[in-house]
Amino acid sequence: MSGRFITFEGIDGAGKSTHIEALARRLRERGAEVVCTREPGGTELAERLRELVLQRPMDALTEALLVFAARRDHVEQVIRPALARGATLLCDRFTDATFAYQGGGRGFDAAVLAQLEGWVHGELQPDLTLWLDLPAETAAQRRAEARAADRFEREDLAFFERVRNGYAQRMAAAPQRFARIDSSLDKHAVWAQIEAELERRSW
Ligand code: TYD
Repeated sequence: MSGRFITFEGIDGAGKSTHIEALARRLRERGAEVVCTREPGGTELAERLRELVLQRPMDALTEALLVFAARRDHVEQVIRPALARGATLLCDRFTDATFAYQGGGRGFDAAVLAQLEGWVHGELQPDLTLWLDLPAETAAQRRAEARAADRFEREDLAFFERVRNGYAQRMAAAPQRFARIDSSLDKHAVWAQIEAELERRSW
């Protein structure tokens, strides 16, 4: 038995949290066991690595190694067991974020990231990746109203446009796994696109 693995991606300020909650509610209403988790994080060890990655200055390779170390623990402790018992797993970011942020944003070598990806989770890939896409400028306006910025959120618009481009490249390489959601619209219109995508797949 294998459950569904659904990931949410997008630049900071795309509105992932709201829609993860809404999707969890929808799936639970239909009787599924739903596990909501996030990256970096999702285990005690990975949450400690998250604090370091979000707050301490470090170079791009260190950043990549730490997010993959956190991911390895998360995959082994939480993701594989949940999928093995047939649960639907909703994950706030996964490896596409590493290609987008460390690869696109920081300009780190994607070939090295691909190697790490192979070591850390081999053949395991999400069944569906909902990419909440919007211009960097719109996302920055939303963030300014919402919260105190971490190390990534303090980056400039050009950084976030590179991250966005990183997501576009990942989507081009695996178009059947991705659904691009126009996240510049209001909350209800974004949710309608997500629901339509699930209905299209009869989920
Ligand atoms: P985010 O998911 O936006 O959480 P919150 O909504 O609580 O702010 O924050 C995680 C940050 O970590 C985000 O800025 C992107 C970054 N990140 C990477 O740089 N690489 C990765 O592989 C992952 C998973 C996240």
